[in-house]
Amino acid sequence: MRLIMLGAPGAGKGTQAAKVAAKYQIPHISTGDIFRANIKNGTELGKKAKSYMDAGGLVPDELVCDLVADRIAQEDCSRGFILDGFPRTIPQAEALDAAVEKLGTKIDYAVDIEVPDENIIERMGGRRACLSCGATYHIMFNAPKKDGICDTCGGELVLRDDDKPETVKKRLDVYHTQTQPLIDYYSARGNLLEVDGTQGLEDVFASIVGKLGE
Ligand code: AP5
Ligand code: MG
Repeated sequence: MRLIMLGAPGAGKGTQAAKVAAKYQIPHISTGDIFRANIKNGTELGKKAKSYMDAGGLVPDELVCDLVADRIAQEDCSRGFILDGFPRTIPQAEALDAAVEKLGTKIDYAVDIEVPDENIIERMGGRRACLSCGATYHIMFNAPKKDGICDTCGGELVLRDDDKPETVKKRLDVYHTQTQPLIDYYSARGNLLEVDGTQGLEDVFASIVGKLGE
């Protein structure tokens, strides 16, 4: 199964993509996590991406399209994958179409998690992210077993640099202008699945599985 996760910042893409990846046994590929790992390791890519991310803007398409095309061509993606945070612009969606076509396959579904902006601001302040494995928690809605420590890998949990309220507002603006048009893009292709993301975590997951099939 080849899937894309669409939705505003904080809609729950990462949370749900991790669960979907585990259920269908496919790799979870988050471009945001890839950039954060590169920033942590001080790579050239990380240095280039950091200023855009900290400002709440998008990293330029040319830094992300080839990276994803290479990643989905790897052996572990031969049975499918779930992309979280890519594509985010129409040129990225076109680049993805070209990349999957080259592999002789196609995107099966784009899952859009819908959450109004008001709910997002509340969620972001409580989010904690693992710097080592990318797992996501929420201090109220999805707390780790031990404060500040990742349940999965024991890594340190932090508030992301771009989760300050003013940066979240900027990210929402960028989402509405540059990423939301992808909903029409995938709807026109007949493979858009829309899910109400204001439900609890497990109910959102059940809705996604209900649409994708067991
Ligand atoms: P990225 O890391 O992709 O961030 P984002 O899209 O802004 O989305 P988030 O990760 O903030 O939110 P999410 O939808 O994953 O929600 P989560 O599950 O964590 O990108 C970061 C930056 O990298 C971008 O701004 C850009 O600069 C750059 N970038 C990345 N990809 C790019 C690309 N393709 N092109 C260009 N630039 C790119 O959930 C949020 C919180 O809510 C958590 O605390 C969670 O526990 C909680 N929560 C989740 N679901 C629920 C629920 N149902 N009820 C209550 N709480 C919930
Ligand atoms: Mg995420």
